[in-house]
Amino acid sequence: MRYSYDYAYFKAAADWLKERIDQEPEIALILGSSLGPLSQQIKDQLSFDYADIPNFLISTVRSHAGKLIFGTLAGKRVVCMSGRFHSYEGYDFEQLVIPIRVLKLLGVKAVILTNAAGGVNTDYNVGDIMIIKDHIKLNGGSPLRGPNVEEFGPRFFDVTNMYTPELRELAKECGKDSGLTLREGVYMFMPGPQFETPAEIRAIRILGGDTVGMSTVTEALTAAHCGMKVLGFSVVTNMAAGVLDRPLTSEEVTVAAHAVAENFSAYIEKLIGKMSLQ
Ligand code: HPA
Repeated sequence: MRYSYDYAYFKAAADWLKERIDQEPEIALILGSSLGPLSQQIKDQLSFDYADIPNFLISTVRSHAGKLIFGTLAGKRVVCMSGRFHSYEGYDFEQLVIPIRVLKLLGVKAVILTNAAGGVNTDYNVGDIMIIKDHIKLNGGSPLRGPNVEEFGPRFFDVTNMYTPELRELAKECGKDSGLTLREGVYMFMPGPQFETPAEIRAIRILGGDTVGMSTVTEALTAAHCGMKVLGFSVVTNMAAGVLDRPLTSEEVTVAAHAVAENFSAYIEKLIGKMSLQ
């Protein structure tokens, strides 16, 4: 099945939401499993089940319904996607543009993306946070393939600085007394759902990847295409396959993510407070 959507398709979803919210969000948060608690800090919440939003992507595989949560955080108007979509769940890359384009039509100017990731760079440790400087995506299609929707952006577009340099600088600045070990590096997208083989991890290291994971890049590309600012973070939840002499488990990912969640959430909240989006 090949999907392609026109402008009216995204607009119908955005118009439905606009009728129900009282202020335009300026910053969107799409949180990996590690940052769930941050969504609870959002004040004056108004939330919608994905399933109720016309033309939105529906969680078909996940057991819990996803929600779009509007409100304020650190004095900023935010919208948070509680539950994101991954290609390993069976979505086509073309479908993965939907949430971001709807957020764009709601007025969102910047998106903060977080993920749990494997540490490929052997200088990194579990619990480190990596500001994404750039990514490598050699697997799977682009979310932007198919007929271009000109209202969002041009067919061919530059991604040299798609992880917005000013926001990365701000992220470094805010990290100073956060108690977090902040890194800056390259995130490599792998399609999953299996973790990588040790040989794949060696190849990723040679290619220049510092962390590896199964999300974020499709959202970042869609956001960059329509002119949003993008800030991305990996939480290193495990050393990638073959770095340590033992198999990986999804439990260690969850445990490591929970261990940093509180500090990381406080850090992101502070960062949001300092973001200015002219
Ligand atoms: N590989 C891919 N995705 C991941 C990993 C990993 O090692 N850890 C958390 N998400």
